[in-house]
Amino acid sequence: MSRRTRDEDFDTKIDIIRTRLKDSDDKNVQDAVFDKRTLMDLYSLASKGVIDALGGSVCTGKEANIFRAIVGENELALKIYRISTSNFNAMQDYLQGDPRFSSVRGTKRAIVAAWTRKEFRNLSRAEEAGVSVPHPIAMKENILVMDLIVADGQVAPTLKDTNLEQEEARAIYERIIHYISLLYNRAQLVHADLSEFNILYNQGEPVIIDMGQSVTLDHPQARRFLERDIANVAHFFRKKYDLGSEQEIWNRLIKDKDEMEKRRID
Ligand SMILES: Nc1ncnc2c1ncn2[C@@H]1O[C@H](COP(=O)(O)OP(=O)(O)O)[C@@H](O)[C@H]1O
Ligand SMILES: [Mg+2]
Repeated sequence: MSRRTRDEDFDTKIDIIRTRLKDSDDKNVQDAVFDKRTLMDLYSLASKGVIDALGGSVCTGKEANIFRAIVGENELALKIYRISTSNFNAMQDYLQGDPRFSSVRGTKRAIVAAWTRKEFRNLSRAEEAGVSVPHPIAMKENILVMDLIVADGQVAPTLKDTNLEQEEARAIYERIIHYISLLYNRAQLVHADLSEFNILYNQGEPVIIDMGQSVTLDHPQARRFLERDIANVAHFFRKKYDLGSEQEIWNRLIKDKDEMEKRRID
C-alpha cells in the first residue's frame, strides 16, 4: 500500500472510531481525550484484537475518561488519561517516590504513560495478592484496558451511591479491611486514594478501583497515605452505617502482619 493510501485508510478507521464515540461525550471533552495520538493508539489496540468496538462513556473524571468497550463477548473498560488536563506535577511527585518509576523523566506524554503503566502494574499486583480489582488486560501509552465491572448490563455503582442493609454493610466493611490488609501485607502497596468513591459495589462484593496513585511501602509518603485511606474508610462506614473505627482497621492490619511473619518463621 502506498503511503498516501495507508494514511487515507488510517483516517477512515479513525473516523469510524470517532463516529462510534459521537454520543458518548460533548465535543470539548472528546477533543481533550481523543487527540490524534490517542486515536492512533486506540486503533492499534483494535488492530491487535484487544478491543473490537468502543461503547459509550461511563464517567468523566478529573484526569481520565472511562469508556465501555467490547471484545468478543466481553465488556471492557477503557481508562484514557487526558494528556492536556492531567495534573502531571502531582503525578511526578508520586512517581519519583516510587522506586519502580523514580527514573521516569520527560514530556507530559511520557509522564502520563508512566502513570498509566503504574496503574496497570498496581492492579496486577493487587489482583495477585487476592484483592478484588478490575482485571487489567492491556495498556498503551495513556490508555488502560481492564474488565468492566458490570451486572445485567448496568455498570456497578460506587459505594457512595449504594444503600446497604446493615448486615451487608458489616460484611462489605470487613471485606474492605481484608483488602487493605492484603494490599499492605501481601502486595506491599498502599492504595493512596481509597474512599467510597473508589470502591465499586458489585453484587454483594466490593471491588477496589483507581490505583494510578498507589505506591509501594518504601514511598516516603506511604505511611501518611495509609493513615488517610484508613481514616476515609472508617469515617464513611461510621457516618453512614454507624460501624467501624480506625483503631479496628489498624489492629487488623497489625494482627495479619504478625500472623504472616509467624508463618514465615515456622
Ligand atoms: N473497571 C471499571 N468498571 C466499571 N466502572 C468503572 C471501572 N473503572 C472506573 N469505573 C467508573 O469510572 C469512575 C472513574 O474511574 P476512576 O478509575 O476512579 O478514575 P478517576 O481517576 O477519574 O477517579 C469510577 O468512579 C467508576 O464509576
Ligand atoms: Mg476515582
